[in-house]
Amino acid sequence: PYNCCKNCCKNCFTPCAPRRAGSHHCPAPRHPPHFPIPPICQPRQGAYFTPSQLDVLSMQTASGMAPIGIFDSGIGGLSVLQALREALPHEPCIYVADSGHAPYGERDDAFVQQRCAAITDYLLKHHAIKLLVVACNTATAAAIGHLRALWPQLPLVGVEPAIKPAALQTRTGHVGVIATRGTVGSSRFQNLLHTHGQQVHWHVQACDGLAQAIEASTWQADGNLSEIEALCARYISVLGPFGPNPGHMDTLVLGCTHYVFARPVLQRLVGPHVHLLDTGKAVAQQTQRLLQQGQLLAPPPPGTTTAAMQLFTTGQLPALQAAAQRWLGLPANCCSVAQALV
Ligand code: DGL
Repeated sequence: PYNCCKNCCKNCFTPCAPRRAGSHHCPAPRHPPHFPIPPICQPRQGAYFTPSQLDVLSMQTASGMAPIGIFDSGIGGLSVLQALREALPHEPCIYVADSGHAPYGERDDAFVQQRCAAITDYLLKHHAIKLLVVACNTATAAAIGHLRALWPQLPLVGVEPAIKPAALQTRTGHVGVIATRGTVGSSRFQNLLHTHGQQVHWHVQACDGLAQAIEASTWQADGNLSEIEALCARYISVLGPFGPNPGHMDTLVLGCTHYVFARPVLQRLVGPHVHLLDTGKAVAQQTQRLLQQGQLLAPPPPGTTTAAMQLFTTGQLPALQAAAQRWLGLPANCCSVAQALV
């Protein structure tokens, strides 16, 4: 499986001969390190490292250099990428915005599953990712089980509305939840409410069109703010009264990664005393835990503070470039079109 050069062991990742000769250090393996690692080869006579040392060495070096894959139906997952970048600045990341097929929230499960599988396949084949973050509540609800069944060895992190934290922190016992139609209609979401929120009054609203308006906002001259404001105002008023008083909602769960970018508008509408909850930080922490467990953390690169980011879209390149610049301060040349997925 290790095909970077002719000298490497053909049965495991161990570059025994070149290391012993001291003349060559292999680059990262071309295969994702989360694939089952075959048992290590028997040591050759006079090998420099013991098999177990070599196993650890090659695993760590190899894994650390592979990127994390992240995707969303569009630019919403950039809010998760922001959190990942803060928590794990040394991790190289490959982001896919499936903007050419957005929104997912108003499509059926079969469509979302098919897109998620195609993107995962692309990230594995073209970028040899070591872990996948499904940075989309809708995709997590519709497809994470499907992805786990297709790639049982791939470490996966999904995104779910912050129901448990909201249930723990509400004082009035009334919580608002906004998400896509796909998320609120999913059995995963109903299970979440059932498991963590029996003592809470949940006020749930599917927000058709809001993710798409936010998607469009990054590259329209006026920021498309009026449409976002109008949609937010409509959905927030349908939910009912917000505030710290008894019977009012004191917490609002942002159950779609796109909505994080409308936070200032939403906060203004619900008032300063209402807590807005998203899951970016929790996802970054879970990613860190999985990387640690699998010994997949990237070593800090010498002399730099942040690792490389590459962003791909299946939609309009200028839209992704504008979003990457606006939300993450990334230059346009980090972004490309994922031709294989269009
Ligand atoms: N960003 C996605 C989420 O978190 C959904 C947006 C869409 O409908 O495509 O659910």
